[in-house]
Amino acid sequence: MFSTDTYRQRRAALRKAVGSGVLLFLGNDELGMNYEDNTYDYRQDSSFLYFFGQPYAGLNAIIDIDNDREIIFGDELSIDHIVWMGNQPTLHEKAALAGITETLPAADLKPYLDKVVAGGRKVHYLPTYRGDNKIKLFNLLGVKPGTEQPSEEFIRAVINLRNHKTDEEIAEIEKACDVTADMHITAMKMLREGMREYEIAAAVEAVARSRGCRLSFPTIATVNGQTLHNHAYHNIVKPGDMLLLDAGAETPEGYAGDMSSTICAGKKYTRHQKDVYDIQVAAHRAAVAALRPGVPFVDVYELAARTIVEGLTDLGVMRGNPYDAVAAGAHAMFFPTGLGHMMGMDVHDMESLGEVFVGYDGKPKSTQFGRKSLRLARPLEPGFVLTIEPGVYFIPELIDYWGANRHLGDFINYDRLDAWRDFSGVRNEEDYLITADGARRLGKKIPLTTEEVEALR
Ligand code: GLY
Ligand code: MN
Repeated sequence: MFSTDTYRQRRAALRKAVGSGVLLFLGNDELGMNYEDNTYDYRQDSSFLYFFGQPYAGLNAIIDIDNDREIIFGDELSIDHIVWMGNQPTLHEKAALAGITETLPAADLKPYLDKVVAGGRKVHYLPTYRGDNKIKLFNLLGVKPGTEQPSEEFIRAVINLRNHKTDEEIAEIEKACDVTADMHITAMKMLREGMREYEIAAAVEAVARSRGCRLSFPTIATVNGQTLHNHAYHNIVKPGDMLLLDAGAETPEGYAGDMSSTICAGKKYTRHQKDVYDIQVAAHRAAVAALRPGVPFVDVYELAARTIVEGLTDLGVMRGNPYDAVAAGAHAMFFPTGLGHMMGMDVHDMESLGEVFVGYDGKPKSTQFGRKSLRLARPLEPGFVLTIEPGVYFIPELIDYWGANRHLGDFINYDRLDAWRDFSGVRNEEDYLITADGARRLGKKIPLTTEEVEALR
């Protein structure tokens, strides 16, 4: 945990921003994997962690702004718990570390909220993303699952705080990034033709575990890099393949790293691989060079997209004016993802609170294929932490789908594209902090160019 003052200050800033009413925080509970006591790896809700610092299941909390009360609701351990799970500090002791002096039994939360509602005061709650918390909300406030009306003031206030990382958070993210970098460097050193993808996934995950971290998201380790979130690891890495690795560590404080690399199966990339890889690196570098406060991230995305279009035009698979191609969405045939996302306690930071608020400051998102996947578009501000992850992908199914009626044929040279349909994909990803006058890469550098990767092979 951070210091007691950190949590006090965060809650004080939140109270000031929302102004009145009761803020309800639903902590995460254990979740049975195949029966109740065989649970998934436990993870506390990030906003709960951010304001209360308690990485334990079975807790909820409120901040009653009108009455100046901050309460964690939960039950002290019974002797049964202690026999099976070992002794622990009391809830009161744990809460005190976050500057909370009032704890009440879990069962007292509903009567407390009943009184708030009966008194005509507002209970603010955040969006829920777990079924059990939707049921909890129903039991506490009578809100039927699927009809939640989270408080926009609460959402915006939380996002405004969590979007601006403090020095102690940046130090924590940097620790996660250092471990994440070592996960990628390990893979670059160990990958050999004939290995299974799961051997790489396992080695990479061992780096995180052996440094006291967990994974910040399920590892992607695949020879089918064109499948954006591929979580299957059964393929053999054959000569001439590339392995796309997207993996990251999360520190015990709950801060994430998220990097990607695309590694040649043999000692060197092939000529064709290098051609496409260099386009990705050009887009990556152009994007990084453009990062500074005030620049809308959508502009950085468009710059990366144009760089990819220019490279693919040289390769012969695109044509026409790159500005027009990007405006029409033709780049999305090869770059259907966004350019990056906020990163912090969640790898896609606060995605559960709504991308439109986190990445768009409440402004509407585009619905255009490709552009609609851009999670971040707003002007950048100092303290934002984000990923840069352009990619160049050849997706056979998309080539066939668009190709059936030569969709955007003014910009896509379908006659030349067929030769590339089995290429797979290239993505590299790094993590950046927006500073007062630019941006700083977080964590140890991982090889980016083909030459840098080959030097480790
Ligand atoms: N690293 C996974 C993602 O950004 O979607
Ligand atoms: Mn990412």
